[in-house]
Amino acid sequence: MNKVEAMKSVKDGLEVLRDIPEYAAAGWESIPEGERDRLKWAGVFFRRQTPGRFMMRVRMSNGFSNADQFRVLADISDDYGKCFGDLTTRQQMQLREFGIDEVPDIWERLHRVGLVSLQTGMDNIRTVVGCPVAGLTPNELVDASPVAREFTGMFVGNREYTNLPRKFNVAITGCLDNCIHTSNQDVALTPAIKEISGSELTGFNVAVGGKMGSGGYTANTSLDIFVSPEEAAEICGHIALAFRDHGSREARNKVRLAFLIADWGAERFRAEIESRAGRPLLRAGKDAGKPGQTDHIGAFPQSTPGFNYVGLCVPVGRITSDQMRQVAALADAYGDGAIRITTGQNLIIPNVPDACLPALEAEPILETFSHHPTEAMRGTVSCTGIDYCHYSLIETKERAVETAQALEQMGVQTGKISLFWSGCANGCANHALADIGLVGKRVRVDGQILEAVDVYRRSKSVVAGKPPAPVMTNVPCGELPSVLGQMLSEENGEIC
Ligand code: HEM
Ligand code: SF4
Repeated sequence: MNKVEAMKSVKDGLEVLRDIPEYAAAGWESIPEGERDRLKWAGVFFRRQTPGRFMMRVRMSNGFSNADQFRVLADISDDYGKCFGDLTTRQQMQLREFGIDEVPDIWERLHRVGLVSLQTGMDNIRTVVGCPVAGLTPNELVDASPVAREFTGMFVGNREYTNLPRKFNVAITGCLDNCIHTSNQDVALTPAIKEISGSELTGFNVAVGGKMGSGGYTANTSLDIFVSPEEAAEICGHIALAFRDHGSREARNKVRLAFLIADWGAERFRAEIESRAGRPLLRAGKDAGKPGQTDHIGAFPQSTPGFNYVGLCVPVGRITSDQMRQVAALADAYGDGAIRITTGQNLIIPNVPDACLPALEAEPILETFSHHPTEAMRGTVSCTGIDYCHYSLIETKERAVETAQALEQMGVQTGKISLFWSGCANGCANHALADIGLVGKRVRVDGQILEAVDVYRRSKSVVAGKPPAPVMTNVPCGELPSVLGQMLSEENGEIC
């Protein structure tokens, strides 16, 4: 039994909710070292870089938030943290640097505005991602956000789902413009049309067993199942529980759902899901997704005539508490208070009437959070990096912004491009799925240790059946803008 399984066998992860008031009263040093990981069931993360100052991951299904929530997150960051938060690639917010004694009050404030941090780490179903303009964009087959919410409601706080063999990532989307990465998710529901006796049903095709870590990127496998929106959450539940009951619990790097799918094959897994559902399920429908990808940055008309959503680029997802309040004020003044978070660590203000659009576009905050960012900044995503993550070998967020700015200043024609930075090979920023993926490392040059990266190029790095391979290794971060500038200039025209 691996270490984590041994820890889980003592008591369920959610039992930590009973321990937290005690830890809060007695101070962080009272938390036994072996119990630190259990805090992640509560969404509270011990950070080795800042002992005693914790991180909290706040769940926002489908990236849906609102002005009241942003104001509360801003107040918490001011009162207990360092006056900022991080938007993540799973469409949620991470709060930083608070004490364990402050957790009860933070939770109370979060609960008042409908937010929870439960089960956002370790062997749980992480925040369900989806199209951030679900229900707004004319380019969707179905509004999948109710399914994301329904499924989330099934597993949050439910101990049936709190002892999976490993983390479990779910994406549910009806967007035809491929605005989220679905191939690397343990479960992906993507828009599909099923023809039955001459009539067309709209719903989702189901794929399972994608992953990024644990040996690298594996694209998920079609289960050859079509589900209607009404049965979609139920089927996601059966898949998670099949993983719970049949997934390996041996070596931690070989237990993601991908390994069970590789072992069983899609057919046997489908039979298991049908047996849990107690009925045969329809075979996959016609994939409805269009070619290409989008990030929803910019101003776009919604399906309701006269209304628009405005996608704002938040460089590397870092947002100060003042900026959170400014965004909340924008959402209240020009929209209906709704705020959405994208998987590119950016924000969307929905429901802006045509008449209000020019005034919104003239707001000073849009100089920082632009809706017309440069291509390099628009495509830049970064993991936390060395400031808060002890795995990191480099500083990521500042370097990512500086590199994007340097490419702009050098006049490099990047074209539409994604630049994803991971501080280490764990690859939390999905480097293998980027046009250019950067993975931090340290190199010795002339006796000096320098921060450096390996460079991945999606078009050349990802070969089916093989782990992604870098196209350049050991590039010192200081040289990166010129190295990337040269690479892109040489390739000019090749990027799409
Ligand atoms: C064993 C491998 C991994 C380890 C040890 C690991 C560890 C971590 C840690 C410590 C953080 C939080 C850092 C902070 O902000 O303070 C983090 C964040 C994150 N990681 Fe990983 N990670 C691993 C693999 C992955 C993989 C393969 C993915 C998928 C691409 C991933 C996705 C994320 C995301 C999206 C976040 C931001 C928070 C969130 O939205 O959930 N991680 N990871
Ligand atoms: S990629 Fe590495 S450095 Fe970045 S958050 Fe993940 S574990 Fe930390």
